[in-house]
Amino acid sequence: MIGNDKGMEKKILITTSSFASEDPELLDEIKKEGFDCWLNPYGRTLSEAELIEVLESRRPVGMLAGTERIGEGILTRAQGFLKVISRIGVGWENVDLQTARRLGMKVFRTEKVLTQAVGELTIAMMLAALRNLIEHDRALKEGEWKKVMGSLLAGKVVGIIGYGEIGRYVGRLAMAFGAEVLYHDPYVEINEPWAKRTSLAELLAGSDIVSLHAGGREVILGEEELKACRRGVIIINTARGGLIEEGALDHLLSHGHIGYACLDVFEEEPYYGPLVRHKNVLMTPHVGSYAREARVQMERKAVENLFRGLREAGIL
Ligand code: GLV
Repeated sequence: MIGNDKGMEKKILITTSSFASEDPELLDEIKKEGFDCWLNPYGRTLSEAELIEVLESRRPVGMLAGTERIGEGILTRAQGFLKVISRIGVGWENVDLQTARRLGMKVFRTEKVLTQAVGELTIAMMLAALRNLIEHDRALKEGEWKKVMGSLLAGKVVGIIGYGEIGRYVGRLAMAFGAEVLYHDPYVEINEPWAKRTSLAELLAGSDIVSLHAGGREVILGEEELKACRRGVIIINTARGGLIEEGALDHLLSHGHIGYACLDVFEEEPYYGPLVRHKNVLMTPHVGSYAREARVQMERKAVENLFRGLREAGIL
C-alpha cells in the first residue's frame, strides 16, 4: 500500500528483534516526538522480502536498523521517503553506503559502545574452548561424569586479526591472562609493549588462538589461510560471518586441522547450516552485543543518531 502520508504520523521502522526490551522508555521517547514505530515481530533478522514489504507498506522516514542486508535494490525502492538509516551496532557493511549517500540518505552507526560486550564474549569463548566447558556440560547432563583435560590461556599465543577498538580490547584482556599477543591489521600500527604487529602469514603460523575483529565483507580466512594455521588452532569469530569461508572451516574441522571454532556470526543468519554437527564448535546466535549495559547504551546512541539525522533532514 503506497499511501499519502500527509496528516499521518511519520513512521520509524525498527528492525532489530529485541529493541527496548531492557529500556522500555526508549520507545516512548520516540513516540513522544510524534513517530509511529513498527517493531520487528519475527524474533530474527528480516529477510529481503520482508524488509521490502514493510518498507513499501509503511514508507518510514527513518530506520533503526539491525544486520539485515540493505542493498542497492532496497534503497532505490525507499528513495523519496527514507531519510535516515541508524544502525544499532558498530558494523555497517550490511548497508550499501555509497548508494544510500547518493540517494541523499544519512547513515549512522554506534561506534565504541560494544567494545566490552564483544571483548568479554570473545574471552569467554577462548576459555570455554580451552577448558572444554560445553563438552563437560553436555556429558554431565546426559548422565556422564567424564573429565577432559584442558589447557591454560596463560602462555598461549593469541593472534588478533583487526586491531581496532574491539581487537585492542581483546588484546589487553588476553595479555592480562598471561597470553602473548600478535596482531595483524594493515591499517593500524600501534605500539603496545604486550602486542606484536605481524603479517597475516606470521600470525597464522604462530598463533594457538586466532580471533577475528575486522570489519568488511571480504573473506580473510579462506581455505588457504585456515590450512596455514597451526594444527589444533582455536578459531574465534565474533566479528562478521563472511570473514571466514564456512565450507573450508567445516572441512578442516572434520579433518582435525582446526581444533575448535567459536562462532557468533555467520554468512547467512539465522544459521542452520552443517557446522552444527561438530562437537568442537561452539555457536551463539549473534549475541556479541547482548550484554544488558551495552545494549541499552547502544540503542540510546542509535536513537540519538536517528534524531540527529531527522533534524538535519528537516523532519524533526
Ligand atoms: C553487531 O553485529 C554490530 O554491528 O554491532
